[in-house]
Amino acid sequence: MKSWIMRRRTDTLHVDDYALVDIDPPAAPGPGEVRLRTLFISLDPYLSRFMKIWEGEHPGWEQGHVYGRTVAEVTESRADGLAVGDKVLAVARWQPENVVPASSAMRIDPEIDPPSLVLGVLGASGRTAWIGLDLAHPKAGETLLVSAASGPVGSVVGQLAKRRGLRAIGIAGGAEKCAYVESLGFDVCLDHRLPDLAGRLAAAAPKGVDILFENIGQTSLDPALSVINEKGRIMLCGLAQHYNDEVPMQLDHFKALLYKQVTLQGFRTADFVDRYEEATAELMAGVREGWLRYDEQITDGLEHAAEAYLAMLGGQGIGKRLIRLP
Ligand SMILES: NC(=O)c1ccc[n+]([C@@H]2O[C@H](COP(=O)([O-])OP(=O)(O)OC[C@H]3O[C@@H](n4cnc5c(N)ncnc54)[C@H](OP(=O)(O)O)[C@@H]3O)[C@@H](O)[C@H]2O)c1
Repeated sequence: MKSWIMRRRTDTLHVDDYALVDIDPPAAPGPGEVRLRTLFISLDPYLSRFMKIWEGEHPGWEQGHVYGRTVAEVTESRADGLAVGDKVLAVARWQPENVVPASSAMRIDPEIDPPSLVLGVLGASGRTAWIGLDLAHPKAGETLLVSAASGPVGSVVGQLAKRRGLRAIGIAGGAEKCAYVESLGFDVCLDHRLPDLAGRLAAAAPKGVDILFENIGQTSLDPALSVINEKGRIMLCGLAQHYNDEVPMQLDHFKALLYKQVTLQGFRTADFVDRYEEATAELMAGVREGWLRYDEQITDGLEHAAEAYLAMLGGQGIGKRLIRLP
């Protein structure tokens, strides 16, 4: 069986740092375990940190095995509560089959179709958008700015903000992504690859920015600080631009935090489990009723995982990036 490993510890990730190697298939499940057939692998920015320093929480990272969020089907079960044919969300190795404790495999509601939606709009990405926005206490009439606006988190942030009566401005890399973001109902999307983002932002937000939902880092954070309003709120959700940084990030407008009494709050979605039910209910309603749009970009074949992962980190693609296995 094939499995992805990291060949070496590296500060900047390159496709040669990954290898698709032959390994023995997993042993038969023991009591309380299930065998899973991988259907989808989620290409998540946060994994790059573990790929670099191999400090993942799963045994095996130290030997270089890559673990990530997957959607899988139970093919053998020695655990109560999970039956053959069930679809589950599990953190597992990037390989076609895994044997895991049933406690680490969460059964997916069969109403969720396709089940891959639990990796994006109806999973951690959607919940992160919902929870981060809720923590910012949005008010109708305010202006929200979100970076990585075409991604699974950012696209939901903007759509929820519009639903709550805010003006939503997105930042994304490239004309195609910006067109997609505006097609979702954002008021405007600014391409951070074009010059003078700060100037274009000032024009797009004549009343300033009340809430910045930051997913990237310096590229959007610094210009946003130049237009943030008095008592503005910054939800620091992610720093995708800096996970592989070799030099520390620098902010020209850092002083705005002081002069404008801005609140900057980092948050981790996993610390708000008590809000999951409420968040998921609204997200599911949005998908069912059609007002919450999402996109999945699927690459077929385990062999393309490393390349597709690095392309995602390089800013290519729209929506949730997934690998699909046969
Ligand atoms: N706080 C939490 O609990 C939590 C939970 C889940 C996710 N997150 C974070 O939320 C953020 C958005 O997640 P997502 O899954 O929706 O990501 P994503 O949008 O699918 O992917 C990252 C995007 O960041 C942008 N980007 C700009 N410069 C980059 C650079 N130098 N390196 C990498 N990416 C760059 C790219 O979009 P453009 O080309 O459009 O700029 C890229 O497509 C990430 O930072 C993630 O780590 C946080």
